[in-house]
Amino acid sequence: MISEIFENRPSISAKNPFSVLFVCLGNICRSPTGEGIFISKVDSRNLKAFFEIDSCGTAGYHIGEPAHATSQSVANNHGVYLPSLGRQLSGTDFEKFDLILAMDTSNLSDIHRIQPKDSKALVTLMRTFDPQRDSDSVPDPYYGGLNGFENVFQVLERSCENLLDELEKFVEK
Ligand code: 4NP
Repeated sequence: MISEIFENRPSISAKNPFSVLFVCLGNICRSPTGEGIFISKVDSRNLKAFFEIDSCGTAGYHIGEPAHATSQSVANNHGVYLPSLGRQLSGTDFEKFDLILAMDTSNLSDIHRIQPKDSKALVTLMRTFDPQRDSDSVPDPYYGGLNGFENVFQVLERSCENLLDELEKFVEK
């Protein structure tokens, strides 16, 4: 899956950084959490120069808003900061990003609906990278309690770890 991307682009270097976009519905819970975790892992592996990382929502409900307060407190408790301000997915994202990660199957079909035919981006489900995958989707925590937000963090933590392990193989240091 990841190796397919490198059939069409050079290996990862400071000159050719790899770009990842995390996408959910509202861009206030799941995708900002994925973005924050991935940023934190990239920083702690000293790979900052090699990655561009962002998140957005398929919907425009929360444009300009920071991550949900509960997403932020759960992340902070795990030493992760969420820098996101809400924005909506647009056509230019398919030119800018190498990898677009959908949090659930509904996000995936929404993304595919606006994906241009000549798009360079690989679009797939976030949980493709979850070593303990028991569902295709990262469950939406928005209407539930604290446990849902903690579960989202755990799913994204292990998925991002595995994703970065895969990508680091293509980094030319
Ligand atoms: P997210 O969660 O997609 O993980 O950011 C949601 C946030 C807001 C809404 C739905 C899901 N909403 O309907 O406003």
